Amino acid sequence: MLRIALPKGRLGEKIYKLLDECGYGCEGCGENSRKLVFRDEKNGVSYFWVKPADVPVYVSMGAADVGFAGKDVIDEAGEDVYELCDLKTGVCKMCVAAKKGFEDDFSRPLRVATKFPRCAERHFSQKGRQIEIIKLHGSIELAPVLGLSDVIFDIVETGTTLKENGLEVIEEAFPVSARLICNKAVYGFARGETDELKRRLEGALKR
Ligand code: PRP
Repeated sequence: MLRIALPKGRLGEKIYKLLDECGYGCEGCGENSRKLVFRDEKNGVSYFWVKPADVPVYVSMGAADVGFAGKDVIDEAGEDVYELCDLKTGVCKMCVAAKKGFEDDFSRPLRVATKFPRCAERHFSQKGRQIEIIKLHGSIELAPVLGLSDVIFDIVETGTTLKENGLEVIEEAFPVSARLICNKAVYGFARGETDELKRRLEGALKR
């Protein structure tokens, strides 16, 4: 059985729909349920739902053979996995944003609120800008509004959250979209199954 880790939430629902369109999926799996593991005997696949940030961990540790995660989550996890395909869904951008009219004060470290400290560190170190990370778990846009941070380092999709909180993008760091990732050892010995999954997904994306 090919074990697939799916990210709970909006992205997972989109991906599950795509899987369903290309002949994968099984009864009850995409529906709102507390059940975490589903078996698709027809395709020889089992699915399980995990927190999005945990998908790369399940895959790299071999508890799942493949999984679906955003590029933001993959880079932040820093796990050693292969990226097999870009699903071109869940598209957004990792950005630096601040209150309108913000001006950086280079005499002190920039205070950066983020859910992605590893990515933020890398981004600012490439620019040679010293920062102080303020690690948050959500509602990141609130941090500069309340003076907790100077800027945020976060994903922007429609830009609505920034706009509604008086913030604006000051820099785009990297593009984000959902990827199919694979355990490195699995890619060696279950190439047939992983290639079939990739082939069918790419076919569905072209339709
Ligand atoms: C994400 C992200 C931004 C928002 C961007 O938050 O952290 O806050 O979406 O989307 P937009 O550009 O379309 O407004 P999420 O919905 O994951 O909630 P969170 O505040 O719990 O992180």
